[in-house]
Amino acid sequence: MATYDLVVIGTGPGGYVCAVRASQLGMKVAVVEKNATLGGTCLNVGCMPSKALLHASEMFEEAAHSFAKMGVSVSAPKLELPAMMNFKQQGIDGNVKGVEFLMKKNKIDVLKGTGKILGTGKVEVSADGKSQTIETKSIVIATGSDIARLKGIEIDEKRVVSSTGALSLDKVPGRLLVIGAGVIGLELGSVWRRLGSEVMVVEFLDRILPGMDGEIAKQFQRILEKQGFAFKLGSKLTGVEANSKALLAKIEPAAGGAAETIEADVVLVCIGRVPYTDGLGLKEAGVALDNRGRVQIDPHFATSLKGVYAIGDVVAGPMLAHKAEDEGVAVAEIIAGQAGHVNYDVIPGVVYTTPEVSAVGKTEEELKQVGVAYTVGKFPFTANGRSKVNQTTDGFVKVLADAKTDRVLGVHIIGREAGEMIHEACVLMEFGGSAEDLARTCHAHPTRSEAIKEAALAVGKRAIHM
Ligand code: FAD
Ligand code: NAI
Repeated sequence: MATYDLVVIGTGPGGYVCAVRASQLGMKVAVVEKNATLGGTCLNVGCMPSKALLHASEMFEEAAHSFAKMGVSVSAPKLELPAMMNFKQQGIDGNVKGVEFLMKKNKIDVLKGTGKILGTGKVEVSADGKSQTIETKSIVIATGSDIARLKGIEIDEKRVVSSTGALSLDKVPGRLLVIGAGVIGLELGSVWRRLGSEVMVVEFLDRILPGMDGEIAKQFQRILEKQGFAFKLGSKLTGVEANSKALLAKIEPAAGGAAETIEADVVLVCIGRVPYTDGLGLKEAGVALDNRGRVQIDPHFATSLKGVYAIGDVVAGPMLAHKAEDEGVAVAEIIAGQAGHVNYDVIPGVVYTTPEVSAVGKTEEELKQVGVAYTVGKFPFTANGRSKVNQTTDGFVKVLADAKTDRVLGVHIIGREAGEMIHEACVLMEFGGSAEDLARTCHAHPTRSEAIKEAALAVGKRAIHM
């Protein structure tokens, strides 16, 4: 029987990063993966394929609409969808191979099959009707999440799709109906709108992107509408019928009332994700779940069963790849006897649309709710030199600082490259920095990041370029 210091179940960003860190710390490690390829949701059907299509579709739109005004004359771009899908697949393959390489480099055994926890220190790995039992000192559950389904709506991944089907459509739908104005709906809605679909988004709440700062979300909605998105807020999907020509989606007001029928060629259901624990044998083994089906953990990632830990989408917290990675590192360090830690107050979030939306820390709504007095500094990209010369001036930066101490509590950005710009705010907040610290830090000119410095100056009502 093979014996290990650590067996990690699942090789998404949580699992494979945990395995690498544990190996660096001298442990003998194996990973168990039931999928044909390593890398989990993120590499195979999540972050990476969606970003490849966002990039390619953005280039398509830029070539069609932005080149001419810069004096670059090209004939109207023609979409070759199979080639674009091939570009996406090359990106996936490259990243998956990268994880395989990391497993080899760190001498981590890859066990292909479904992992089941038999008890403390015992994992059964089954594949093709055969199974083997592995002994290990510790186990980390990193089995991730799956799509959330709507009762009575069958997802066939052809006409009624989840994000997985929406990443692999074989033709551009004439009309795409998106259910859920969250991150997936707005990112994948953007991809298909740029490629030619009419996109309508149905959202249960009366706003898009719940959880993000309300002012940013409002401006984002206006920008998306200018791009051609249509929104039906405060509404829900209650059924989908199909005839040979179209899907007939029944949409009702969220509060109840008369239903209307909206015709579409493809319906994308993206109303969130749920933790994935199927086949793990948690109940029999005695690993407790919380009331939302997530593996319950203590502040050190330990489950209710001795020697078994859990991280990533399968536990509480934002379902983000970088949160899973940081938890993977922290739990490996804890198992090795070190002081692994994740600062949940400083986890950035990014929506990779054009413009991008990024955020770290508290929103204004959250600060109001907990009654913290704060000051706001805002700076628009219309006043930022680099944005002006590039003619990409949509959006603004907002810095929220404690009214008494000036400590930065949240930074919110809507604008091009917002996802790259947010990290100086993360570093500042990790060090407990103030708006004054940010405002006195020299920023290279001309960069879009100068808007962050100006927003920090604006906290003290002394922005220079506004
Ligand atoms: P996962 O990546 O889900 O990996 C879990 C792995 O465990 C899978 O490979 C699965 O096959 C395996 N597994 C499950 N059960 C077993 C078992 N019993 N035995 C063996 N193997 C098992 N996040 C971001 O931060 N940025 C983004 O841009 C982003 N874009 C996304 C786009 C889409 C369309 C989607 C769907 C998600 C996106 N996410 C993004 C979220 C991100 O993918 C997840 O937060 C992340 O993958 C979670 O990592 P994880 O390691 O917890 O689990
Ligand atoms: P989400 O939680 O971001 O958004 C779901 C939306 O659907 C919400 O606005 C919600 O109010 C709405 N909704 C729920 N039920 C509904 C109903 N019956 N009818 C209409 N609307 C309804 O979830 P999403 O977009 O599915 O993404 C899943 C996860 O994947 C997210 O937690 C996110 O963190 C992660 N992800 C992250 C990305 C990134 O970091 N850029 C990109 C894509 C996904």
